[in-house]
Amino acid sequence: MSAVSRYRVRPGGRLTGTLAVPGDKSISHRALMLGAIAEGPTEISGFLAGEDCLSTLRALTELGVRIERSGATDVRVEGAGAGGLEAPARALDMGNAGTAMRLFTGLLAPQRFNSTLIGDESLMRRPMQRVVVPLAMMGAQIRTRDGRPPVEIRGTPHLRGIHYSLPVASAQVKSAVLLAGLAATGRTSVTEPAPSRDHTERMLASFGATLAHEGRSVALEGGQRLRGTQVAVPADFSSAAFFIVAACLAGSPSLTLTNIGINPTRTGLLDLLRRMGADIRVQPRAASDAAAEPVADLEVHASTLRGITVHEAEVPLAIDEFPVFFVAAACASGETLVRGALELRVKESDRLAAMAEGLGALGIEHQLLPDGLWIRGAGGFGGGTIDSRGDHRIAMAFAIAALRASQPIEILNVANVATSFPGFVETARAAGLGLEAL
Ligand code: S3P
Repeated sequence: MSAVSRYRVRPGGRLTGTLAVPGDKSISHRALMLGAIAEGPTEISGFLAGEDCLSTLRALTELGVRIERSGATDVRVEGAGAGGLEAPARALDMGNAGTAMRLFTGLLAPQRFNSTLIGDESLMRRPMQRVVVPLAMMGAQIRTRDGRPPVEIRGTPHLRGIHYSLPVASAQVKSAVLLAGLAATGRTSVTEPAPSRDHTERMLASFGATLAHEGRSVALEGGQRLRGTQVAVPADFSSAAFFIVAACLAGSPSLTLTNIGINPTRTGLLDLLRRMGADIRVQPRAASDAAAEPVADLEVHASTLRGITVHEAEVPLAIDEFPVFFVAAACASGETLVRGALELRVKESDRLAAMAEGLGALGIEHQLLPDGLWIRGAGGFGGGTIDSRGDHRIAMAFAIAALRASQPIEILNVANVATSFPGFVETARAAGLGLEAL
């Protein structure tokens, strides 16, 4: 992990030109995992070599999978085939990665060996019952400590397919159930209350699996074999999001972000920002991607934003973007209200509380609600010190806030930015932010 512990960001700055951001975290985790249980090799390009995905890579290596990194973002996975994973010698450490822990729970529940999943301080506090409940219905034997890690899995081959209605929209839970369903007998189906990211479904199809979609439900038959393939990972929309907001706020003519994944289950932030008055132009690129993920260049123009009300159904499609969305709301005119966002309290930090505290420290009038946040836009911020609570997205959101601050902003506890956005400091500086890593 990087030795950087805080950022100091000078007020102001202009963003212009063209910017690339690293590969998609969600897609990189899935490419490794599906590659591992497929037959034959999988070649991944554009892989996110951030700490979270490296935790998944290391865990798969401990499960006996041969993985080679031929370049900074090129990875080759020698598929072990269904049933080809081997018992790990020790507990598998997922670091800060909630996605890794939840997806591995689904992947490992039907194996012929036992395994234990652990993580860092933040991950050890996060709820895992949401994956244990449906997997137990399938016959899995999983123990947690009051619903939190460590996750102790007694491998149980031949789980039974179930139909499961998700109580909250969660791509991680949906994916865990589908991964277990792949090794189960019979049909497994999952129904969501609202659409969540569908990378697992798309990627399973590109590895040769057959899935049936009907409305908000997706189903698959157990026992299907996956065939290794090529996965071109697009740049992560959630990393681009910081610079999309930055370009709206910075008063520069425009910024272009290249090769960004624009899967519609991820791009809710674009709709929210446009409703606020943002001018963002999407130039689609021709699909070259086995994972069938749509990709585009995004041209973002400086915009005057006004506050909006965000509805509950819009939340899952922008779930990881709220920290930086709240920064945009603070710079808008008028009020912004977000409700139905209880899930933000169980991310890498309690993001509602962390953002409320940080906005308050920078002089923004706001109200923390049980399931959301109300903000009175002030056009900009004062200066001050923010505790990111070790949450990468809180740290990056407040770095962007400095573009509209009157004094420097200092952000503490930023080492975890490396979990999702290696090179954030260099990228931000190249873009025009006055950011110093200390
Ligand atoms: C993710 C799903 C989301 C998201 C997380 C990545 C995934 O979590 O917040 O950063 O890759 O499936 P939930 O499933 O808990 O909503």
